[in-house]
Order: sequence, then C-alpha cells, then structure tokens
Amino acid sequence: NRLVEFANKLPKAELHIHIEGSLEPALMWRLAQKHNITLPFESVEAIEHAYQFEDLQSFLDLYYQGADVLRDEDDFYTLMWSYLCKCHEQKVVHTEIMFDPQTHTARGIDFSIFMEGFKKAIAQAKQEFGMSVYLILSFLRHLSEQSAFDALYQAKPYYEMIKAVGLDSSELGNPPEKFEKVFAEAKSLGFKRVAHAGEEGPPSYIWGAIELLDVHRIDHGVRSSEDLALIEYLRKHEIPLTVCPLSNVKLCVVGSMQEHNILSLLSQGLLVTVNADDPSYFGGYLNENYAAIIENLDISERQVKQLIVNGFRASFLPDAAKQQWI
Ligand code: HPA
Ligand code: ZN
Repeated sequence: NRLVEFANKLPKAELHIHIEGSLEPALMWRLAQKHNITLPFESVEAIEHAYQFEDLQSFLDLYYQGADVLRDEDDFYTLMWSYLCKCHEQKVVHTEIMFDPQTHTARGIDFSIFMEGFKKAIAQAKQEFGMSVYLILSFLRHLSEQSAFDALYQAKPYYEMIKAVGLDSSELGNPPEKFEKVFAEAKSLGFKRVAHAGEEGPPSYIWGAIELLDVHRIDHGVRSSEDLALIEYLRKHEIPLTVCPLSNVKLCVVGSMQEHNILSLLSQGLLVTVNADDPSYFGGYLNENYAAIIENLDISERQVKQLIVNGFRASFLPDAAKQQWI
C-alpha cells in the first residue's frame, strides 16, 4: 500500500505510549526466568494468546501483572531501550513517554531503580539516534490522591527528566476531580499536564480534565464526538487528542477499525494525533497504527500528512524544534 509506505517513511512524533505497555512477551518471559518468577503462562505464545480483551479493565489486569517482571535497573533500561530502538526503526524522531511509578513503588521498587534505567536508555538514544525524548509521570487513577502526591514528591530528584504529569488506569468511577489538587501542585512545580479522558468515560470527564486539571492534551478523547459543545471547545482552543486506533479496537471502545471516528474528529477541525498506547498488548507500534487506519478507512494522503504534522504541533517541543518537522 503506497500510503502505508508514505507514512512509514515520514519522520513522526509519538505522544501517547505507556512504557510498561511496550513490554514484549519475549522480554517478559526472559525477565521472569532471570528473576525466578512463575508466570501463569506456559510459553511466549501463550502470553500472546492471552491478549484478548473485552474492556479497559480486562487489559489493565494483565498489564499490571506483566509489569511485575520488571525488577532491577537493567530491566527498566532494556524495556526503554527496546522501545527507543523500535522508534528509530519506525522513524519516530520525538516521543513523549508515560510511565506509571506507582505500579513499581507499590512492589517495593524505588524510584531510582526505574529512573536510572530510563535515563541510561534515553541518553543512548539521544546520542546514537539524535532522538528527542520526554517523560510523562502518570498517576494511577484507581489509587488515592494521596498516593499520587506521594509519587509526585518521590520523583523530586528526577524532576529535570520529567516534562509532564498524566492520569491513566481505570477511568470509570475515577473522574478527574479526584486529582484536582495534585494536578494543581504539579502545575505549580512547572509540569505540563495531560490526562486520559473519554476513552471509556463520558464527555463530562473530558470537560473535567480541561476545567479542573487544566490539561494541555486529552489522551484518547474519542467520546468527545458525543458532545457538540465539547467538540467546538476542543477545536477553538486547539486542545489535542492523542488517539490510539489499535487500542480502541482491542479494548472494544469501538466495534471495529472501519467504525473508528478518527477521521470524523479530524474533519471537524480537531488537533487529532495517532499513537500506539500499549504496542505490545494491542498489536503494533506507531506505523502499525497508521497502517490500520489507512487500510480500513477512506483516508487521503493529505489527511495522513495532517495527522503526522499534528503529532509535532501537539507535542511539548519548543516552537523552534517543532518548526524543523512541520
Ligand atoms: N487507558 C487507561 N490506562 C492505561 C491505558 C489506557 O489506554 N494504557 C495503559 N494504562
Ligand atoms: Zn493510554
């Protein structure tokens, strides 16, 4: 497919990727053996086979279980380095990566263990590939606001490595207002802000993320199409949506790729971007997400180009660096 080739070859930015969601089954298997952990799977193929989800929660259960094999600094280095090599292969020249500190600190793994591993891999990617890499410290919304505050303060020695805070995990029942104070504190510390909203949750959660958390971007946001006033607001204020097509199909947020509303959102003038979310669990990295929409939707070359340019526009890169890619 000519358009798939076209998208593969262009320099791209990725804005919605969870590093723990880039843990490939083969690496999970190898780390389980290294640490003498018994996985509830018989083989690498059995892990791959288990990746069939009916909703967000059924995925999150496996995703947190999978992350349990990440134990020492070298594990986190290898995880990050593997993802950054994939970026290099796929012409992702800038990436803003979410990580879930509470998933690790809750298991007794200190902030320094994962941050030092990430730091080494990121320095190597900057040096060898000339990539730019930002980190987004993401709070788990099924946990308390106090736990989010703890994560924010434990990160203090690493603030210069972190560009933004985010909000992920189980959306329904954990609305943005639960985290209003910790986002205000993050803002006063100088961090940018993003939040998952409108993936499974209603448009009111997107309004909440905007009005109470003062976010720069909405992660997912596909349910904004249910609220015309919200669409108008997102358009007028150029608030980006980081849409993840393969994720939405795998988690049954949409019925099929053919029914995905990404082009409808784009043609309504929203700053829509394409992203992988959890590539190892959802069947592909950034290029596979482009391929999926190109092969299943009636998309033009101009629209593919627009989505790619939007990735840079919606990024936290300084304007001069954005200009280089737009
Ligand atoms: N939604 C919410 N939490 C997540 C996701 C997601 O798509 N991926 C990893 N954590
Ligand atoms: Zn996500």
